[in-house]
Amino acid sequence: MKSYLKTLECPRCGKTYDPSKLVNTCECGTPLLVRYDLETLKKEAGPEIWKTRRRGLWRYKELLPVTDEKNIVSLGEGGTPVLPMKGMGKVYGLKNLYLKDEGLNPTGTFKARGASVGVSRAKELGAKALAMPTAGNAGAAWAAYSARAGLKMVVAMPEDAPVTTQAECVAYGASTYLVRGLISDAGRVVREASQRHGWFEVATLKEPYRIEGKKTMGLEIWEDFDGKMPAAIIYPTGGGVGLIGMWKAFSELKALGWLSGPLPKMVVVQAEGCAPIVRAYREGKNRAEFFQGACTIAAGIRVPSALGDFLVLDAVRSSGGTCVSVSDGEILDTWKEVARRDGMLICPEGAAAVRAAKIVADMGLIGPDDPVLVLNTGAGMKYVELLNEKARKLEEGELPE
Ligand SMILES: Cc1ncc(COP(=O)(O)O)c(C=O)c1O
Repeated sequence: MKSYLKTLECPRCGKTYDPSKLVNTCECGTPLLVRYDLETLKKEAGPEIWKTRRRGLWRYKELLPVTDEKNIVSLGEGGTPVLPMKGMGKVYGLKNLYLKDEGLNPTGTFKARGASVGVSRAKELGAKALAMPTAGNAGAAWAAYSARAGLKMVVAMPEDAPVTTQAECVAYGASTYLVRGLISDAGRVVREASQRHGWFEVATLKEPYRIEGKKTMGLEIWEDFDGKMPAAIIYPTGGGVGLIGMWKAFSELKALGWLSGPLPKMVVVQAEGCAPIVRAYREGKNRAEFFQGACTIAAGIRVPSALGDFLVLDAVRSSGGTCVSVSDGEILDTWKEVARRDGMLICPEGAAAVRAAKIVADMGLIGPDDPVLVLNTGAGMKYVELLNEKARKLEEGELPE
């Protein structure tokens, strides 16, 4: 096993850090990015190295930060399918609408990718206890992988986080706490407690390795589309880690000379009730202000402020993409429509992204023949209580029609 891990670098001030030490952010407060020795990798191998390996996240080990294979904590994450959406594509007038179904990951969301890499690396560097605030799904994923790694996990989430994710965290043995307010309030609790107890804080972008796991979505997309990238990728954005990760994957592939041609337009979708990045984009800003009164049924994208906002905005702008918002009503309607027309029970965040495909098509950002990829970040089964769909009870002697 060979990782080409080189250093940790601050994308704002350029300061570098030794990757063999457990670190959180740069001393200037900015998230750190993992850098690899791409020059050497380019000399020593080509993209065919990955083709012969088993599907899944760890096939990209050269561009992942774990240096000793025995530290890998895996539950079979990654390698999710890209599926045509014929039904919704017809409704929206898009002939090549696709969905990457991240709901098939362990714990039912793409968070498994960040957790697998983040927990593996934390274990490799000697962490004993991890702590994070979560909207729900990340906590469930990190709780599962920490259990497998034998690490202590502490999770704090808003008291109205989806009940399934609360139960998952507890079931995996994480110390699980509910906090009045939003994920930002849970973040304050975790920060203070981590300082007091010496836990390693693994909040979104507070450690460098979660992005590396999510980056593998980008590597898979590049493989699935045979190097000819989709015209646009639509991503339901909370903290933005998945989008930053995919964009990082494309930059690394470009630097390696393994990807040529235009890159996809990166499209952020947020809920109208919590759209800090959309607002910053529209106002031409590089940083997003805290979104007061954040409220949406799509809990995963109910993130009022994101540490990596400037990285998200930069990826969107340099790709020629855009940022759009959708209402909760649209999310709910699209969620049900996708299930009926395409046989996929996606998550509300994924439904927001499907709906955004129509918006960007109407804007003319993509044409009717362009391949467009929507990220479904989780399994709908984790949220069935929101769907509120009821079966009809048969009366005595009555038969189904
Ligand atoms: C289902 C789902 N989709 C999207 C997101 C947003 O993820 P990101 O931080 O990459 O923007 C989350 C985060 O909690 C989530 O749970």
